[in-house]
Amino acid sequence: DDVGKGGYDHYMLKEIREQPTALRQCLRGRIDELDGTVALEDIADLDHSGPVQFVACGTSYHAALFGAERLRAAGVSAQAFLASEYTRERVPVDSDTLVVGVTQSGETADTLRALRAADGAGATTLAVTNTVASSAARECDHALYIRAGPEIGVAATKTFASQQLALALLAFELGGEATRAELEAIRDVPGHVQTVLETTTATEIAEAYVDADAYFFVGRGYHYPVALEGALKMKEITYKHAEGFAAGELKHGPLALVSENTPVFAVVTGDDEAARKTIGNVKEVEARDAPVVAITDGVSDVARYADHVLEIPAVDDLGASVLANVQLQLVAYRVANQLGRSIDKPRHLAKSVTVE
Ligand code: G6P
Repeated sequence: DDVGKGGYDHYMLKEIREQPTALRQCLRGRIDELDGTVALEDIADLDHSGPVQFVACGTSYHAALFGAERLRAAGVSAQAFLASEYTRERVPVDSDTLVVGVTQSGETADTLRALRAADGAGATTLAVTNTVASSAARECDHALYIRAGPEIGVAATKTFASQQLALALLAFELGGEATRAELEAIRDVPGHVQTVLETTTATEIAEAYVDADAYFFVGRGYHYPVALEGALKMKEITYKHAEGFAAGELKHGPLALVSENTPVFAVVTGDDEAARKTIGNVKEVEARDAPVVAITDGVSDVARYADHVLEIPAVDDLGASVLANVQLQLVAYRVANQLGRSIDKPRHLAKSVTVE
C-alpha cells in the first residue's frame, strides 16, 4: 500500500499533486497550436449540432455543471442533470440530443441508467470517463477519455480537474473554433496548477479553521460548481458540515447560518461584474462577523474584505476555476489530516457506487 503512495501519507495528496501531469496527459495531442484547432481523435466520428444534456453524480456532476456552462458559452444549448433524477424529471430527449455521461469510473449505476434511458429515447450518447472499457465506455455510442491515470482515493481530485479540461475541449469541438488565446490559456493550466501546489498556504488556513462549526463556499459562474465541489470535498473527508452556494443565493437563507465560527470561502477572480457582485456578498458575510477566505488572483480588491487569501495566478475564468478548486482540495485535505480522518477511505463512502 505504502509503495503505491509514492512517499505521501495518503493517495489523496499524491493524486492532488499529480494534477499537472494528469492535465498534460488529458491535453496531449489534442490541441494543434500551429493550426489553432482542437482535435479529439476519440470522438472523431461524432458529428453533432443539437442540444446537449449532461448526466452525472457527485463530483462528476459538478464537472458536468461546469461543462454545460462552458458549452453554453460556446453557443450550444446545454444542461446538466443529476443522473439519479434524470429519468424522473421527464427531460425532453430525442434523436437530436447528445447525452453526455460524465463518470470517472464508468460504472456508477445512476449514470448508466440515465444513459440507457437516453439511448432508449433515440439520443446519441457519449461517455466522458477515465476508465477504458468501462460499462459507460462500452455502452455509449462514443467515449472521450480524460486520461487522468488511476485514482485510488475515494474523494475524486485529479479526475475532476481532468474532467474540467476534457469538457472544455469538448466545448470547442461542439461549439466551433477556439481562439488562439483560448488554446494557449488551456495549454498553460497544468503549469499554473504546479505553481498553486508550490505556493499554497492551505495548511495555514486549515490550522486557523480546523475547529470551525461549519464551512461555506460561494462562487458565481464557473466558480459556482467549484463552490459545490469545495464543500463536497470538505464533507467527504472531514465529516464536518460544509455547503456550497451560488453567491447570489446567500441572502435567500444561508446568511442565517453564518457566524464567527463558520468561515466562508469565496472564489473571486478577475474584476468583472460577477466578481464585484460576489465581493458585495463577501461584505454582507463580513458584516455578520464570519471569517472570509478569498480564493483570488488579486485582480479585484476582495482581499481588503477577507481575513485570509488563497492566491492563484491571474488567468482566464476557465483556468481560474481549475486553480481555485485545487486550493480547496488542499484545504479539505489539510483539515481532514489535522482531524486524523481516514482520508483515502472515508466512512460510509465508496469509490464507485454500483447500486441505484
Ligand atoms: C462516488 C464517489 C465520488 C464520485 C461519484 C461519481 O460517490 O465517492 O467521488 O464523484 O461516485 O463517480 P463517477 O465514477 O461516476 O465519476
